[in-house]
Amino acid sequence: MRYLTFALSKGRLAKDTMKLLNTIGISCRELEQGDTRKLIFVNEELKLKFFLSKGPDVPTYVEYGAADIGVTGKDTILEEDRKCYEVLDLGFGKCRMCVCGRKESEELLKHHEMIKVATKYPKIAKDYFYNSKHQTVDIIKLNGSVELAPIVGLSDVIVDIVETGSTLKENGLSVLEEVCPLSARMIVNRVSMRMEYERINDIISRISEGLKT
Ligand code: PRP
Repeated sequence: MRYLTFALSKGRLAKDTMKLLNTIGISCRELEQGDTRKLIFVNEELKLKFFLSKGPDVPTYVEYGAADIGVTGKDTILEEDRKCYEVLDLGFGKCRMCVCGRKESEELLKHHEMIKVATKYPKIAKDYFYNSKHQTVDIIKLNGSVELAPIVGLSDVIVDIVETGSTLKENGLSVLEEVCPLSARMIVNRVSMRMEYERINDIISRISEGLKT
């Protein structure tokens, strides 16, 4: 039997994924103990491998078959737009992709004005403004702390993740429009899905059953 390899997003998503896998009898002691700089972990008994990567790299590993299965956020899946199957909504890591800004900026979204939009997610922002709202905008790519942009005058609004809303609140910003809901998703390499159908489908079915209860 060959190893099935999982690519997990470093941090909380990886922890929540292991908790979920534990419920269907899949564990990886070394990985779950944490406190290590190791990147690859093995469960010899089940012939499974796990590795941790930056969230946006998970779909890349899965598309190229370096991992058979990946878990990452829907935001990353939309932004990276890689060729793989999205097979399950895992129900954790829930948040929303939103257009945010000062309350006064709400008007700018109503009249197809040319506005500046700062975001870590240029593809999602472009798709939303161009294809859903038919508004031509100037998209400015940032790498984090995006809420700063409208405050210091870099942009009119931002497209960013809102979870509790506290970052917005503490910076005098609000949600102006919702782009889409987000959560952690399981993705599968297209060839692995065919070649290892039984094992992968068994994992998907068991998780999916567990999520229903
Ligand atoms: C994310 C997101 C928001 C914040 C939202 O940032 O980009 O800034 O969390 O969470 P909240 O609604 O619960 O306040 P993250 O902490 O991942 O860091 P970043 O700003 O560097 O992207």
